[in-house]
Amino acid sequence: MKVMVVGGGGREHAIIKKIKESPKVDKIYCLPGNGGIARDAECVDISAEDLDGVVHFAKKNGIEFAVVAPDDPLVMGMVDRLKEVGIPCFGPDKKAAIIEGSKAFSKDLMKKYGIPTAQYETFTEMDKALAYVETCSIPVVVKADGLAKGKGVLICENREDAAAAVRTMMEEKKFGDSGLTVVIEEFLEGPEVSVLSFTDGNILIPMVSSMDHKRALDNDKGLNTGGMGAVAPNPYYTEEIAIQCEQEIFLPTMQAMNKEGRTFAGCLYFGLMITKNGPKVIEYNCRFGDPEAQVVLPLLDSDLFEIMLHVSDCTLEDAEVKFADDSACCVVMATKGYPGDYGKGYPIDIPEDVIGQVYVAGAKKDDSGSLTSSGGRVLNVIARGDTLRDAIDKAYLAVDKITFDDGFYRKDIGQKALNALREEK
Ligand code: AMP
Ligand code: GLY
Repeated sequence: MKVMVVGGGGREHAIIKKIKESPKVDKIYCLPGNGGIARDAECVDISAEDLDGVVHFAKKNGIEFAVVAPDDPLVMGMVDRLKEVGIPCFGPDKKAAIIEGSKAFSKDLMKKYGIPTAQYETFTEMDKALAYVETCSIPVVVKADGLAKGKGVLICENREDAAAAVRTMMEEKKFGDSGLTVVIEEFLEGPEVSVLSFTDGNILIPMVSSMDHKRALDNDKGLNTGGMGAVAPNPYYTEEIAIQCEQEIFLPTMQAMNKEGRTFAGCLYFGLMITKNGPKVIEYNCRFGDPEAQVVLPLLDSDLFEIMLHVSDCTLEDAEVKFADDSACCVVMATKGYPGDYGKGYPIDIPEDVIGQVYVAGAKKDDSGSLTSSGGRVLNVIARGDTLRDAIDKAYLAVDKITFDDGFYRKDIGQKALNALREEK
């Protein structure tokens, strides 16, 4: 089959490498892709957010199946548009993607259906939001309602910061329309776990759990980023917690979306916090997490493309979904300055013996065919190992072989997970 993957980062590279293994896949296009993805798919310079451009390309090139990976095109209704012209897709339609597209929607859904999450209030008027932060308990979390590239969440330690956060969103409109509605919620504490799942609205199959590392610097210091690394499985996600999550969170969410007439088909992502009062939902995403997909998909022993076909046909119960029981680690190499301002066009050299371990997030080929950086997060270096320790060591060995002088990476990816495993013993 002729397949099109919409997106162009490390997550899309991980998806492409996996679906390429399927005997059913003959040809993969990636829109827009990047200089590293070009090794594994034909990249076409059409933006993932250019709905008309993507649909036009798909029709013209006889695309038989589309995978829409990033949040923006999903929330904008890319899947609806492709289905209108008869192209089956992996990814939720616009009605279902709102579960990520609006935090006010997802919080109200959880409240209505009794799904555990932080207490919250939603505001569309700044004066009311400012009055609320005068009295609420502190710390408090101020969230822009809409998509904000992972930056629309501000954890405020005092009332002044909370008021400033409200003003940034509602008055200065730092996050554009995304921040015109704000959700102000209770601050929760506990380890975080990401669980991605396949669902067709009838059944839901959780994937192996994972742990993101959101802060830019070692020991969770520095600014929040799109993710500086990940490991799978996540040791905090014990069997007992998994059962509780399935019963209290995963299935109720799937059923709630059905009841709302917003059946979700695709990858539903649960961002969880394991609090002392049990697991609670921090956020839903309507897609594979990035960089979680880069550690979860390598551990999938089954045919990802077959699973995607089953999700799209609503026959997920017939799919085989098996994960290996070893571990995976992903170290993100980013450009110095990220998540603030950073330059582009810096040289990268990846030796042949580790190229199979690299998913490219933000790099392009220059005229001479060499790879140069083109984004904040540039490379995702992956390894699998029998143990988590093994996977981490192998990933860092590969990182050491890569030349990217203008880059940086965290040295402690997986340490928190290793500490948790030690405590368990
Ligand atoms: P989100 O984009 O909603 O996942 O938030 C980004 C990050 O902010 C999360 O991964 C958490 O580390 C943190 N966060 C979000 N909501 C809360 C909360 N209610 N309590 C504590 N931390 C939070
Ligand atoms: N890693 C979190 C996300 O993909 O939003």
